[in-house]
Amino acid sequence: MKPVFEKPFTQQEAISESVIERIGEILRSGRLHRYNTVEGEEAEATLLEREYAAWQGAKYCLACTSGGYALQLAMRASGLEQGDIVLANAYTLAPVPGAIHAAGGKPVFVEIGADWRINTDDLALKAGSTGAKFLMLSHMRGHIADMETIEAICEEHNITMIEDCAHTMGATWNGKRSGSFGKVAAFSTQTYKHINSGEGGLLTTDNPFIAARAIVMSGSYMLYGSHGAAPDADVFDQIKLVSPNMSGRMDNLRAALIRGQLADLDKNISRWNKRYQALEKVVAASPDIMTTQRPQHEHYVGSSFQFRPKIAPENLPTLLANCGKRGVDIKWFGSEEPTAFTSRYDSWEYLGKQPVLPETLEVLSNTCDIRVPLTFNEQDCVTIGEIIVDEVNALST
Ligand SMILES: Cc1ncc(COP(=O)(O)O)c(C=O)c1O
Repeated sequence: MKPVFEKPFTQQEAISESVIERIGEILRSGRLHRYNTVEGEEAEATLLEREYAAWQGAKYCLACTSGGYALQLAMRASGLEQGDIVLANAYTLAPVPGAIHAAGGKPVFVEIGADWRINTDDLALKAGSTGAKFLMLSHMRGHIADMETIEAICEEHNITMIEDCAHTMGATWNGKRSGSFGKVAAFSTQTYKHINSGEGGLLTTDNPFIAARAIVMSGSYMLYGSHGAAPDADVFDQIKLVSPNMSGRMDNLRAALIRGQLADLDKNISRWNKRYQALEKVVAASPDIMTTQRPQHEHYVGSSFQFRPKIAPENLPTLLANCGKRGVDIKWFGSEEPTAFTSRYDSWEYLGKQPVLPETLEVLSNTCDIRVPLTFNEQDCVTIGEIIVDEVNALST
């Protein structure tokens, strides 16, 4: 009888009792809206912004409704105008092209390499040839590209870099936090991310005008003075009447959930990495599976794991089905049809027909992805790895 893994891949850890208690207090107060405070009180969302800005090492922070919303605001507040070209790595998730589209930008996708990172040669080429004003850099599944090279390309072509840190909250490159390289960064606190508030987003920047515009656009009703990590009033005076309200504020309940988990984030990052490394050790030892050597400069958060089995592409669905029967839930980025949380750049048809990106299609054709929730222990990760290796072996030629 082959071993079967029994835990769900979608189960997050429980919210701590102290956070539940704080949420109870907020509920009992009835003051859930961030601008609904009594004399002398600072809203939970305000405190969160101050704490997250300090943790991230950014001057300004805005708490908002989702990571995708933060991405949209990041582009709008950075001055994106209708029809502006936005370069974006082709390996990302649907909310990213959706945010570019919603903000009025026109994405031009950039190839990725075998390590899932953006191909910096193709980036340099397209930065020069497309007239792009923006780069939306998704650190997809936590893989951080060579940030010094990317910074240099953006600088040479006067491109504003926006970092999508949905999968890199807490990660660093060369000792610097992901989200500190671009002009503005967006983070997600949706359930499957490094902090779980159900839904939620954070925007950080050191630029006072981007921060002020983002705050007013998020729906501040001119109450921006109560924000926790905001620029001075004179900056708001310059932009407040020309920045539309596009409501997407964070409420105090979610802010309490995030504040409570922020305190444990560093500890959780090392818990994730122990699990990731246990899984990687087993899978990387198989000659039939490609993984990636993480760059020395990258301090990643191993909350998901990617691998590429060396099996015939037509056997991928069988591999997924066989692993699924043994309790291992694999996502496949090569499927023609977008399914649960996966999609390929050519399935976003609302953007119009996209040029073929052969390298990206080749890499995604056998890119498999699994979540590594903290509800798994290290032995669970070994078991999952063994099941994957076993099932890939059975199908490899
Ligand atoms: C790469 C990436 N960017 C952005 C987002 C958007 O985050 P949210 O779900 O909070 O809108 C996600 C969400 O899954 C994501 O995976």
